[in-house]
Amino acid sequence: MLNNREIFKIPYSHYSIDNWEEKKSIILSQLEDKFTDYGDYESPPYERVVSECIRNELMDFSSYLDFPLVIMNMWYERSKQSYRHPVHNHGGAGFSAVMYVEFNPEVHQPTVFYCPYGNPFTGSLMTYQPDVKEGDIVFFPSSFSHEACPNESDEVRTIVSFNMFDTQLLFAKKRELFGDQADQVVKKIADRVNFIPTPKYDK
Ligand SMILES: [Fe+2]
Repeated sequence: MLNNREIFKIPYSHYSIDNWEEKKSIILSQLEDKFTDYGDYESPPYERVVSECIRNELMDFSSYLDFPLVIMNMWYERSKQSYRHPVHNHGGAGFSAVMYVEFNPEVHQPTVFYCPYGNPFTGSLMTYQPDVKEGDIVFFPSSFSHEACPNESDEVRTIVSFNMFDTQLLFAKKRELFGDQADQVVKKIADRVNFIPTPKYDK
């Protein structure tokens, strides 16, 4: 009996956004000149325009997963020389994305993704660096650890990142997002992700 199998797979998608030059100038015109606005907004002013620019990619990734995706929070990072974002992940936020808004492959490093398990022979961490160019966007599980290497050039590197479908936020905003259908939609999603509700304790 054959019994060889892979027991885990990592969903991952990489797109090149069409009409990029036009979209780039619209997006850049809405970003401030600081490292990041992470945590500044519940919903930043550029979220709508970014969502419209990547509508096709979002829909395609959603159909690949066969799962509804809702953007829950968005931020940007503008890395000047030596700026970096050390290894981290976005927790149980569903799926995440990095859009390369200002990126020169000649001088900038793409995001480094870290395999959740080590090399079977050496135990060393295995990494994946997508071959990205400006106007590309990658989607990955929010719990997938990744790193933005130090920018070694004096050219600014700008990314927009966002999380889709944070369970806690989704449940907190269910009426706003799904109106009268909220309870049905949330139940369907909870069943699908094997969500375990917080236990209720008697006082
Ligand atoms: Fe990140």
